Amino acid sequence: MTATDISHRKKFFALGNVYLPHIVVIEKIIEETPGVRTFHFNFKDKKLGKEFSFESGQFGQYSVFGIGEAPFCISSSPTRRDHLEFTAQRVGRVTNALHRLGAGAELGFRGPYGNSFPLDFLKSKNLVFVGGGIGLAPLRSLIWNVIDNRNKYKKIDIIYGARSPADLCFKYDLDAWGKDKTVNMVTTVDKGDDTWKGKVGVVPKILEEVAPSAREAVAIVCGPPIMIRFTFPVLEKLGFTPKQMLTTLEKRMKCGIGKCGRCNIGNIYVCRDGPVFSYAQIKNFVSSEY
Ligand code: FES
Repeated sequence: MTATDISHRKKFFALGNVYLPHIVVIEKIIEETPGVRTFHFNFKDKKLGKEFSFESGQFGQYSVFGIGEAPFCISSSPTRRDHLEFTAQRVGRVTNALHRLGAGAELGFRGPYGNSFPLDFLKSKNLVFVGGGIGLAPLRSLIWNVIDNRNKYKKIDIIYGARSPADLCFKYDLDAWGKDKTVNMVTTVDKGDDTWKGKVGVVPKILEEVAPSAREAVAIVCGPPIMIRFTFPVLEKLGFTPKQMLTTLEKRMKCGIGKCGRCNIGNIYVCRDGPVFSYAQIKNFVSSEY
């Protein structure tokens, strides 16, 4: 795989002006953890909704009217199109406003932007998903995509962790993947409680214990920067080359289309060249910025 393979540009959802948001309606809200919510939404204009397409890994810009705009990956899978989803942690003005909204509220949406996970490259490979906290959001779009096309891929390992049982996101997905006989699901927490019966330990340590083979495998990693930083060396120890490791980066994207310069790390623009990168592409930035 070359850098070009995974940073290829997808067509913008450019129905007219790429900066112009379209109206979407929140249909359902799921409280993942006390500070994290998943929003199910659809386009107000049904025709527009039918024309809309995206790929796992891409993101959108969501606006709360009168407050501002923020980027979030589309956390649902393109294989499940009765609605779309994004997941937001309450961390600032826009996300606070988002968390005050209820079902039926309208948002602005523009996108999809950025590249996507390279499905052709992943085909016929063993896939190792490594996620932490809300970092499972972009991974779950790909995980469901892969599960819905199960015969195209080989073994699936999912190693997911959070600080505590209460911080685990997408528990309904974790349950579903845990019951899927074709998936090896391993859930861990940094610190358990009286009710916790699963593994205890940080994600990189549990990854080392699970020790998935690097043979014909690709690891897809997303989580807090500290987890990413300690996960790549473990994968290298297990024999994964930098090209066999993918991640998706999050930066404070503004324009989303490579114009404003807000999202650069070194000489790459996360919105334009990513957000999906191989470790080979970002190796030099990970220790300093990520
Ligand atoms: S968000 Fe504007 S250049 Fe990336």
